[in-house]
Amino acid sequence: MASDSKRLRSQTWFGIKRGRGVGARSFMKNQGLPHDMFEGKPVIGICNTWSQLTPCNAHLRELAQHVREGVLEAGGFPLEFPVMSLGETLMRPTTMLYRNLLAMEVEESIRANPLDGVVLLCGCDKTTPGLVMGAASVDLPSIVVSGGPMLNGWSGTTRLGNGTSFFKLHANAAAGEASDEEYAEIESATSRSAGSCNTMGTASTMASMCEALGVAFPQNGATPAVDSRRRELARLSGRRAVDLVNEDIRLSALLNRDAFKNAIVTNGAIGGSTNAVVHLNAIAGRLDVPLDLEDWDALGRDIPCLVNLMPSGEYLMEDFFNAGGLPAVMAEIRDKLNADLQVVEGGRLSQRLDQARNRIPEVIRPISNPVKPHGGIAVLRGNLAPNGAVIKPSAASPDLLSHRGRAVVFKSLIDFRERVNDPALDIDADCVMVLQNCGPKGNPGMPEVGNMELPQKILKTGVRDMVRISDARMSGTAFGTVVLHVAPEASAGGTLALVEEGDMIELNVEERRLHLDVPEEELDRRREKWRLPENPFQSGWEKLYVDTVEQADAGADLDFLKGCRGSDPRYR
Ligand code: FES
Repeated sequence: MASDSKRLRSQTWFGIKRGRGVGARSFMKNQGLPHDMFEGKPVIGICNTWSQLTPCNAHLRELAQHVREGVLEAGGFPLEFPVMSLGETLMRPTTMLYRNLLAMEVEESIRANPLDGVVLLCGCDKTTPGLVMGAASVDLPSIVVSGGPMLNGWSGTTRLGNGTSFFKLHANAAAGEASDEEYAEIESATSRSAGSCNTMGTASTMASMCEALGVAFPQNGATPAVDSRRRELARLSGRRAVDLVNEDIRLSALLNRDAFKNAIVTNGAIGGSTNAVVHLNAIAGRLDVPLDLEDWDALGRDIPCLVNLMPSGEYLMEDFFNAGGLPAVMAEIRDKLNADLQVVEGGRLSQRLDQARNRIPEVIRPISNPVKPHGGIAVLRGNLAPNGAVIKPSAASPDLLSHRGRAVVFKSLIDFRERVNDPALDIDADCVMVLQNCGPKGNPGMPEVGNMELPQKILKTGVRDMVRISDARMSGTAFGTVVLHVAPEASAGGTLALVEEGDMIELNVEERRLHLDVPEEELDRRREKWRLPENPFQSGWEKLYVDTVEQADAGADLDFLKGCRGSDPRYR
């Protein structure tokens, strides 16, 4: 379909014959752009999170060239622009502190510029939700292109997975069972190509979620970063972005409640990261789509984990791609999905599923032989988490899913680091480790520290898992019986703040229960003594963040950023 240049948003910049139009075109011509580029071609922004400080996204400039080719082939006008990049492995204190800032920058960059549609180039964990959140608040035709995962890491015939292999190594080292040679090999051999984590961590989960939501092409999640088919996907997405503008298919046309429901079900089947809960709830909040923790439990509860990938299983993303990727998984659970939904490449989800093939049933298990019976996120409630907490049962030890233990309490991340390996720490394997004040406000950004390392003296006994509870998050590549995102968080006055050393805590995942076994009168007494901490930041981004961030169950967005503000500049 030919574009109607009068309808194009970009023409309100470039289509003005004299006056402001002259300036708009003239300066752009310093890039060698011929005049006909400004005469009614859909302008497609390529929103790029490339950065050498984000190694998972360091190949995105090259990928952007393929998007660009596709846009040109379809008669569009591609314009690449950078936004803040969030590198999981280098940024401190945590990239999550900046996800909402990235979303704000994306939103304002898109709205302020002469763009008709956008291709969102992302990869490392927070870059995906940050871009989609920002784009959703503008609601132009948009399509996600992920950078793709790294190739498998190898040590001999043993697969090495980003994050997961490191966590195992650190635990072995703490128990005195890892040599310098092992460290050196795992460090070098795990990250052997461009791309994001090769496990089903948060990056792969979010790339898959975009695919399941229908805002990215099929195989967006699994195609390795360096595979030629990733470039093809980028090129096709560039072409399609032009069509989306011509057909006026905006993000809101795809991201409806049924699409989120499909994504939640799919997250269960892939054993996806707990971080998906926070990110999808935040994205839904940008479009006023109702979505809450109950949806995660109700829809994900009975979904078996079919994907045999680390951290829940044995294989890696390259294997997943060879096995058929996300379409093959979604085909296995087809009867639990709404296959009638529109998808970004055109047509319906059912058409993707018709073409799917599960080529390696050991990697993508049939529903009759799942990797774990429950892959979804379980949402816990009780006096310790009145607004909910999450656990990933597929990454937990089955024998700990129902557990009662004595609380060993750490007041903060600093307190944890100072005392966890104190030989005098009164702890045994049956205790419940509790970490306070690491939620969105308490440790701004809610760092991925919920999977606290066990004390060395316990690791030396061979124990590798204990029940751990916090208001923090956990890396998508991590594992263990770890209760996360407790809401309200301790620093917002949640019951978690009232837990004291020696209290008894009951966890029962089957019953979705998280209970602090302390009489209500005693909790009231403790609550009276508790004081809301002042925002320790009196200036800068952190002040705004702590003052306005919402709790984890609502997506940890800033309260004033929720909702869709559209693409019209709000003042002129
Ligand atoms: Fe970037 Fe895992 S560290 S994707």
